[in-house]
Amino acid sequence: MRAAVCRAYGPPEAVAIEDFPSPSVGPGQVRVRVSAAAVNFPDVLLVANKYQISAPVPFVPGSEFAGVVAWVADGVHGLAVGDGVTGTAMVGAFAEEVVVGASAVRPIPDGVDVRHAAAFGVAHRTAFHVLRSVAAVQPGEELVVLGAGGGVGLAAVQLGVVLGASVTAVASSAEKLEVAKAQGATHLIDHRAGDLRQALREALPEGADVVVDPVGGALAEPALRSLRWDGRFVTVGYASGEIPRIPLNLVLLKGIHILGFEFYGFMTHSPGDLQRGEEELSDLLASGRIVPHIGASFALEETAAALRLVADGQAVGKVVIDL
Ligand SMILES: NC(=O)c1ccc[n+]([C@@H]2O[C@H](COP(=O)([O-])OP(=O)(O)OC[C@H]3O[C@@H](n4cnc5c(N)ncnc54)[C@H](OP(=O)(O)O)[C@@H]3O)[C@@H](O)[C@H]2O)c1
Repeated sequence: MRAAVCRAYGPPEAVAIEDFPSPSVGPGQVRVRVSAAAVNFPDVLLVANKYQISAPVPFVPGSEFAGVVAWVADGVHGLAVGDGVTGTAMVGAFAEEVVVGASAVRPIPDGVDVRHAAAFGVAHRTAFHVLRSVAAVQPGEELVVLGAGGGVGLAAVQLGVVLGASVTAVASSAEKLEVAKAQGATHLIDHRAGDLRQALREALPEGADVVVDPVGGALAEPALRSLRWDGRFVTVGYASGEIPRIPLNLVLLKGIHILGFEFYGFMTHSPGDLQRGEEELSDLLASGRIVPHIGASFALEETAAALRLVADGQAVGKVVIDL
């Protein structure tokens, strides 16, 4: 099969297209012929060997996909060759075929475009559980989203609006903020245009209820300062490359709750919340209430360029690889 392969850790350009053996199908697994895959920031980190875990080289990056079931191992029930499915994996999706455990795929709801199905795997699930299960966002609350033009950030804007929050989008360009506005954000702040702390104070004089932070770095502290008494700050990732260090007196003074979310830990420790979320997310996708914003599409041969766009923080919403 044709695949994007990382043979040595490094920048996105370390990934090259080659003929690569299709993985064999083990017990409980399915082979999916990939129609579309989507890029996430952790794919960039895995290629650079800077993620929490290492993928041994050579490996095929790619953690979310949609396509058609091509083979089903004996004993797998509820899936058949020819079914349209979407799924997630740690690696393997930037290829003509991917092999995953049967529990890692779900049917594509009727009427949902395969590219949208591929782009709905990681960012929206992350944002949904951050908002719903971790921060418990309530209708009418003030939600601040950092990195609001990126994959997780824009998903948090969309889902925050669906949950009834008033969303303040913080991003680095007018283009990203326009997209966030089109998805329902009410306050728009370009953090490169001035002092973020001051801009948040002006936008939210009563303070924010919740901050969602997939960026870290210099944005985290001013965003945390924008919280009102008893507010919640959820740390989701460090796309800036810098893990922030927050003075604890800020937490003490306002009774702030600092919370964390990590997808694989959440899957292991909160199966009930995970299942409830899967059902609600599936309904949101099937009903068309949430449509992932695809900011750029690439052919498989252009996988390095797709990863580069995400690595540089230039992606708007999701980046899709069309097979
Ligand atoms: N905890 C979890 O389970 C989980 C799950 C998925 C992703 N994540 C993490 O969440 C973060 C966002 O992932 P994503 O897929 O949404 O990424 P993305 O689409 O690339 O968005 C990241 C955003 O971070 C901002 N940014 C600031 N400095 C940057 C830099 N030096 N390089 C790249 N981006 C920079 C950019 O926003 P502005 O330009 O507007 O500032 C960009 O839009 C990553 O750290 C990822 O590892 C965590």
